[in-house]
Amino acid sequence: MSDLLLNLLKFFNPETSHSLSLSLLKIAHKLHLYSLLGIKFNFKNQDSLVFKNLTFKNRLGTSAGLDKNADYIECLGALGFGFLEVGTVTPRPQIGNQRPRVFRFSKHNSVINRLGFNNKGLEYLVNNLKRSKYDGVLGVNIGANKDSDEEQRIKDYLTCFRAVAKYADYIAINISSPNTPGLRDLHSNNNIAELLNEISLEREKLNYKNPIFLKISPDEDENTYQNIINSVIEYSLDGLIATNTTIQRDQSSSRSITDTQGGLSGRLLYDKSNIVLKQIADHSKQNLLIIGVGGVDSRDSFYNKLKLGSSLVQVYTGFIFKGPKLIKAILE
Ligand SMILES: Cc1cc2nc3c(=O)[nH]c(=O)nc-3n(C[C@H](O)[C@H](O)[C@H](O)COP(=O)(O)O)c2cc1C
Repeated sequence: MSDLLLNLLKFFNPETSHSLSLSLLKIAHKLHLYSLLGIKFNFKNQDSLVFKNLTFKNRLGTSAGLDKNADYIECLGALGFGFLEVGTVTPRPQIGNQRPRVFRFSKHNSVINRLGFNNKGLEYLVNNLKRSKYDGVLGVNIGANKDSDEEQRIKDYLTCFRAVAKYADYIAINISSPNTPGLRDLHSNNNIAELLNEISLEREKLNYKNPIFLKISPDEDENTYQNIINSVIEYSLDGLIATNTTIQRDQSSSRSITDTQGGLSGRLLYDKSNIVLKQIADHSKQNLLIIGVGGVDSRDSFYNKLKLGSSLVQVYTGFIFKGPKLIKAILE
């Protein structure tokens, strides 16, 4: 039944199909139809993880962008994920880039998006967090508005941090979306130190005890990753999320892929994100918790991320193509 729906949804453009799928999921959850649709799973002996004061009931979670405004917390949580990450949220709502801005490459189980942080803003998301009855681990991914200049950008992260701190089991600082011009400059040595210094001061002020992770790009050099790890340790953050989408294209990619601008995710990101995951796992020498993300679409790819050094794994594109049966394939 859920496969049939998934196939029907492929006839819509990717963005419409995404919001339709989530709306249908929400209705199905409200009407207690998960069993009927064959998407209610009962996972036994789950491989849980305790980190700081959080218990992740299993190691598979959703990555940011899937539920940007925290509209679908309950229905996604009920599918069996061990944790959810909502956002990216920016202080003010923004509409993002012109459509079309999401492109599906079904043959490769991959997507290119140039959404540009479209979201309904902090106030809307916080209201949803206040209402949520989800009892699993809920992370909030925070970012900066597109029209914020360099100085304002750091203030944007602090504004988001202050507003979500009370409700977020962890906070992910997103410096790696390729579709907000200048955002990835925050990976550079001086910029990252300045940002993390401000974040750590804010953390003290708020007495925020939960983990803070930094979400990084897969398109940096090894030196940059080494510097980032040093800063993350120096400012007492808890870990890294590796990785966001890539703007690089493989030489062997088809014209349609090389000619489409935006961040590439899914299977075509898998190897690249794994190389970065391994590099940062080696460099950080178990001082940091690492969340691996990029191209997971099977049990093997999930376990490979754990083997390469991550403690938790997230999915987005694989879930779009395979739907809830991917969760079953991984966790059962
Ligand atoms: C349509 C789309 C929107 C995304 N939006 C966000 C976002 O708002 N914030 C973020 O940190 N990552 C965002 N991502 C990146 C994903 O969270 C993830 O890091 C990346 O897609 C790699 O994982 P995957 O191959 O499983 O999709 C987005 C990805 C896609 C495909």
